[in-house]
Amino acid sequence: MCGIMGYVGPRPASPIILQGLRRLEYRGYDSAGVAVADAGAIQIRKAAGKLDRLEALLDESEPPGRLGIGHTRWATHGPPTDSNAHPHADPTTRFAIVHNGIIENFFELRQELVEAGAVFTSDTDTEVLAHLIAEEYDGDLTEAVRRAVGRATGAYALVAMTADEPDTLVAVRMISPLVIGFGEGETFLASGIPALLDHTRRMLVMEDGEMATITRDGLRMETIAGVPVAREAFEVDWDVEQAEKGGYPHFMLKEIFEQPRVVADSLLGRLHDGEVVLEDVGWDADFERSIEKIWITACGTAFHAGLAGKEMFEGLLRIPTEAVYAHELRYRDPIVAPHSLTLAISQSGETADTLAGARLLSERGSRLVAVTNVVGSALTHYSDDVIYTRAGLEISVASTKAYTAMLVAQYLLALRLGQTRGTLDTARAAEVAAALEALPDQVESLLKREEGIDEMARFLGRQLAGTDDIYFIGRGLDYAVATEGSLKLKEISYLHSEAMPAGELKHGTLALITEGTPVIVVNTQQHVYDKTVSALQEVKARGASVIAVAYDDDTEIEHYTDHVLRIPRTMDLLSPVLSIVPLQLLAYHVADARGLDIDQPRNLAKSVTVE
Ligand code: G6P
Repeated sequence: MCGIMGYVGPRPASPIILQGLRRLEYRGYDSAGVAVADAGAIQIRKAAGKLDRLEALLDESEPPGRLGIGHTRWATHGPPTDSNAHPHADPTTRFAIVHNGIIENFFELRQELVEAGAVFTSDTDTEVLAHLIAEEYDGDLTEAVRRAVGRATGAYALVAMTADEPDTLVAVRMISPLVIGFGEGETFLASGIPALLDHTRRMLVMEDGEMATITRDGLRMETIAGVPVAREAFEVDWDVEQAEKGGYPHFMLKEIFEQPRVVADSLLGRLHDGEVVLEDVGWDADFERSIEKIWITACGTAFHAGLAGKEMFEGLLRIPTEAVYAHELRYRDPIVAPHSLTLAISQSGETADTLAGARLLSERGSRLVAVTNVVGSALTHYSDDVIYTRAGLEISVASTKAYTAMLVAQYLLALRLGQTRGTLDTARAAEVAAALEALPDQVESLLKREEGIDEMARFLGRQLAGTDDIYFIGRGLDYAVATEGSLKLKEISYLHSEAMPAGELKHGTLALITEGTPVIVVNTQQHVYDKTVSALQEVKARGASVIAVAYDDDTEIEHYTDHVLRIPRTMDLLSPVLSIVPLQLLAYHVADARGLDIDQPRNLAKSVTVE
């Protein structure tokens, strides 16, 4: 999510760190800062906003020093302000740290420190670690960091420095990436390869659970438990553009492959022994019990996530739920009864129609919760509560990882409301929670499986690249996924594509199905499985070429289809998080086979801030 840069060597650290942060700009950020150590003291410069603001601060008074760390922040805890920007320091500013990721038990740790008299200057989880490291320090930064991270749980990358050891950086990787670069008598460190390419191509990638003590002559690496690690550096042959895409040919593909991490991040710290913690939701259990209607409003991909949400809320909570396109809603005269909750879903939080639709429902008395990926976005200002999706910056115009994160956010909300309202008993709630927690590994195994979902999608993509019209069908949650699969395909491949509930086919569209017409079916919902199979038989009888998305253990589906894109078995309720993945890959490969500009499709914008 955030960008990290570190330097130790003979040259002034600030300009090198700033340059590295510039190379990480493509990842997006809302604030930035540097900390540099010199003559036994640390100086910090940081500012909300673009890197130019930080650069102006550094131009005014550049802190001297040859050891430093820098950071670009994408807010998770606390809004993007100067004080929430990294680096963070302990109260004496003898220790400074930058951090990427989330400390799950930060609230408990902060409470402990406050009770012991600590004063905090930011809302971040990171500052807690700066205090802990200071508390644990007795002359050895590596050991202090080791003990401090032993008290923290979560997924993160962390780099620490102290004024007392002006030749040393200590880095810890716990799931979030960290790369070390080796120069001549200088060593660099960053959260991504692009930041280092101006200085060196000799690099080493840290792995989860490892910590490195870095000096200008190199590093000592060991596990957090203290077991020495020996790993050879390698030469990077990527150019900057390839490096920004993580070696993938397009951001869209990179973002599809980021989904295991995104699903994990979206769940992080939010499920505690089956209890759902939504940190920016302020309502109480009485409100949760009082809800009589849920509204969902959004546009585009976010609306499709909302269609899945509608199925899920009605199914799990038995609360009538209406999903309305925001651009329709804003010119309607909606009847908003008391005890309504509105979910306004928006990756950017800036879509003009979504803002207008959400405000209308809010003005008419509905409580408004924003489901968004951008901390401090306009939508969050209008909303009573927020559920952040934690997908990180999405660069490709065609949304992928933000969609899955929107699904996860809604599952968490549904689980919480179901528990409070008693529509989910303890056993069923535990089942949903366990199935949710299994999703990151399942998405990962789906993307990495040996028989190659990506290969299969590429093969089918080439076949579909020459067709004119493609139809997507499904029922219930499968229909919701079909709408998003169809949108993905049309927006980047420019093929005509249409999604419809499987039962609707025979009311018109069947007339368009002829020999070889591609029909893509999502069939994971057991209670309507046979009904969808009937629709398949209808299209097969007219010569359609059918591709299905189905569970691994579904042996029946192949009797009615030409190709099957397999996904791991999960609760039917959660299947959209898995079944969308092959459809995203399929859309990608069709567009790739057609040689199109995948990340920036014609006529479309990432965020539509005008009507
Ligand atoms: C644009 C984008 C879509 C996105 C929609 C809603 O049309 O191209 O990818 O789904 O806006 O954006 P939001 O930021 O509100 O989720």
